[in-house]
Amino acid sequence: SGYITLDSGYKNTGATESAITFLDGEEGILRYRGYPIEQLAEESSFIEVAYLLIYGSLPTQEQLDSFTNEIKIHTLVNEDMRKILDGFPSAAHPMGILSALVSSLTAFYPESLNPNQKKEELDLSIVRLMAKMPTIAAWSYKNSIGHPVNYPKNKLDYCSNFLHMMFAYPTEDYQIDPVVVKALNKLLILHADHEQNCSTSTVRLVGSANASLYSSVSAGISALWGPLHGGANQAVIEMLEQIKADGGDSKKFIAKAKDKDDPFRLMGFGHRVYKNFDPRATIIKKAADEVLTALGVKDPILDIAKELEEAALTDQYFVDRKLYPNVDFYSGIIYRALGIPTDMFTVMFALGRLPGWISQWKEMREQKEPIGRPRQVYVGEKERNYVQMNGR
Ligand code: CMC
Repeated sequence: SGYITLDSGYKNTGATESAITFLDGEEGILRYRGYPIEQLAEESSFIEVAYLLIYGSLPTQEQLDSFTNEIKIHTLVNEDMRKILDGFPSAAHPMGILSALVSSLTAFYPESLNPNQKKEELDLSIVRLMAKMPTIAAWSYKNSIGHPVNYPKNKLDYCSNFLHMMFAYPTEDYQIDPVVVKALNKLLILHADHEQNCSTSTVRLVGSANASLYSSVSAGISALWGPLHGGANQAVIEMLEQIKADGGDSKKFIAKAKDKDDPFRLMGFGHRVYKNFDPRATIIKKAADEVLTALGVKDPILDIAKELEEAALTDQYFVDRKLYPNVDFYSGIIYRALGIPTDMFTVMFALGRLPGWISQWKEMREQKEPIGRPRQVYVGEKERNYVQMNGR
């Protein structure tokens, strides 16, 4: 005691041992439970990956069927939740709604507040959250455009059901495009976990106080919303739009990003851990081309993104600082092509990250980790005497 090591931003402080995700930032390696992200993105489904992250191994057919069915049973949310939703102004950002409604699950399922839940009880809390997040997310969107909400359709798979709740209208039939379903699965898999990032550390820290899974994940959603974290995917599209409106000169924006007197940063560039490339960005860039081609979408913003990437990668400033496109640089372009509105991008990230948050929270509990409580180096005033109002 007495001597505190200062590590602002926890750049070099390990907060836990974890068996969930392996990440090598120098080599650009990402594995969930030992399986390379490239293989999972290509071969697996989001629900299977969620099971893998939460329970530690790939499910047998029986385990997968049971997990899938359990989730389907719980896709409806309590009707009273709609009243909470109605209370939000239509301009509310869906991330704020998501965080509030996930937190409100503690009110509908108070048993989740018990830190000593038995395994079956915790499993139920987990499937409830997996099942209800897409419903809440899609409803927040419907609310924002003033349209009636769609109830979940349990004959549909996880991703198709979400698309149905987002895009179906009572007046028309909605055809779910398999290209869109496949792309959505891939994006959610790529976002599913990323070891001790800001939102996951938040989930673990909040949970370490024995706060419930729902409260902890709600806090994680708030952390993810920040533009330096998950909010970057929305910020990237807004930046690309701005470049387009400005005449499309990417060099001008590179210069702005390099200017230390200008707060502008190249959104979707740089990463705390990846210093060579972000393996998720490599997969997403390829997928962006494939999805846009398959859907017959021509988006001028994709060309601007590629130009900008090219210009940054050959610029000494970015080379010296090892700044590369991260997962958020191309994900927004795919979401746009899928018809997801810009302010829902970070919600999509949250849907993807959910199994990661759950597995990390569960691991923290299973490892019986102590309450998280960083120390500080005090640099304030020495002791001084209280001064009456007339003496100040
Ligand atoms: N544009 C311009 N300069 C940058 C950028 C950028 N996007 N990112 C880092 N730098 C510079 C930074 O100014 C600093 O320069 P100097 O050494 O001259 O002071 C140097 O590179 C190191 O940056 P840092 O801020 O110390 O690095 P960090 O590890 O604290 O921050 C980051 C990582 C991701 C917050 C940062 O790179 C950033 O703000 N990127 C833009 C936002 C973004 O895309 N976030 C999504 C991250 S990936 C998904 C996720 O985590 O959700």
